[in-house]
Amino acid sequence: MILVTGGAGFIGSHTCVALAQAGQPFLIFDNFSNSRRSVLDRLAQITGAPVPCVEGDVRDEALLARVLADHAITGVIHFAAFKAVGESVAQPLRYYDNNVAGTVALLRAMQAAGVRTLVFSSSATVYGDPASLPVREDFPTSATNPYGWSKLMMEQVLADVDASEPGQWRIARLRYFNPVGAHASGLIGEDPQDVPNNLAPYVAQVVAGWREALSVYGNDYPTSDGTGVRDYIHVCDLAEGHVAALRYLRAHPGLLTVNLGTGRPVSVLEMVRGFERASGRPVPYRIAPRRPGDVAACWADPSLAERLLGWRASRDLDSICTDAWRWQDGVARSLRG
Ligand code: UFG
Repeated sequence: MILVTGGAGFIGSHTCVALAQAGQPFLIFDNFSNSRRSVLDRLAQITGAPVPCVEGDVRDEALLARVLADHAITGVIHFAAFKAVGESVAQPLRYYDNNVAGTVALLRAMQAAGVRTLVFSSSATVYGDPASLPVREDFPTSATNPYGWSKLMMEQVLADVDASEPGQWRIARLRYFNPVGAHASGLIGEDPQDVPNNLAPYVAQVVAGWREALSVYGNDYPTSDGTGVRDYIHVCDLAEGHVAALRYLRAHPGLLTVNLGTGRPVSVLEMVRGFERASGRPVPYRIAPRRPGDVAACWADPSLAERLLGWRASRDLDSICTDAWRWQDGVARSLRG
C-alpha cells in the first residue's frame, strides 16, 4: 500500500488515478487545507472503487506512525506542502513549518516504521534563473523566496537522510516544471481557493468569465514573442511519472533526482491561443509590467527521466487546454455554485 500525502490536491489526485490504473493500492493522507473532500467521491467515480483516506497533518508524527503501521505502507508519495510564492514571502515561518518540518516529521515516522521508499515533489524553482536552456539535473540550484528555499531544504534533508543509511533508502526527488491540464473525464482538476497565481488556471477563469482579462506580465523578454516561456506539462503525464519513479525505486536503492517536463517551450501568448482554440472563445488580455522574480524562460531537458524511468510526456498543448477547459466549464464551475 502506498501512502499519498496531499493526495486530495491537484497533482496528488491525478497521481491517485495513475496508481489505480497501474493496479497499485494507495491510501490518501490529507488535511484538506487546500483541497475539498468531494474530490474523494470524484476519484471513486474515475477509478470505480472507494478511495481510502485518513484526514491528518504531516506534522502529526504520532498519527503518521499509526497509519504507516496499521495500513502496511511500503512507500510514500509526498505531495503535502504549501506552494504559493507570494504567500511564502509574507509568511515564511508557516512555509518552513508546514513544508520542511512536515517532511522531517514524515521521514522520522517512516524511519521508525522501517518504510524507506519516498517519491518527493520538488520543483524547477530550485534552478533559479538557469544560465542556459534546456535545464539539466546537474545545473546549480538556488532560491529567491521561502517557497523555493523550502523545496531546496527538503531536497537537502532527503539527500542527508539517504547518505546517513547508505543503500537503505529509495528516494526520488522529482523536479516538476509547470503542471497544468486536468483529467480527461473532467471530474478532477486544479481548483485554486483564491485568485490564481499561475497562468493556466487564471486564463481558464478569464475564459469562463470569472475574471475580466489576463495580465500578461511582460512582453519585452528575449523570447520568441517577448512573453515568458515555460515548460507546461499535462498533470496526467506528471502523474504517470510518479508511477514510473516508484517502479524504478523498486529496482534501484539510493537517491534519484530527475526533471519531469516536456522539453517543449511555450510562451504566455501561445498558451492564450491554446485556450482560445479549446474553448472557441477569445481570451481578453492586456500587457502588464514584468512580475518581480520571474525568469524569461525555463524548460526542461527531460532525457534523464526517459532514459532511467522509461517515461516521457505524451500530451500536447491542445490536450492540456482542452482538458483544462472541460474541467473549468464543468465541475469547477459547479463547485463555485
Ligand atoms: N503569467 C502571466 N500572467 C499571469 C500569470 C502568469 O503573464 O496572470 C506568466 C508569468 O509571467 C510566466 C508564465 O506566465 O511567464 C508562467 O507563470 P506561472 O505563475 O504559471 O508559473 P511560474 O513558472 O512563474 O511558476 C512556477 C511554479 C511555481 C514556482 C515558480 C518559481 O508554478 O511553483 O515557478 O518561480 F514557484
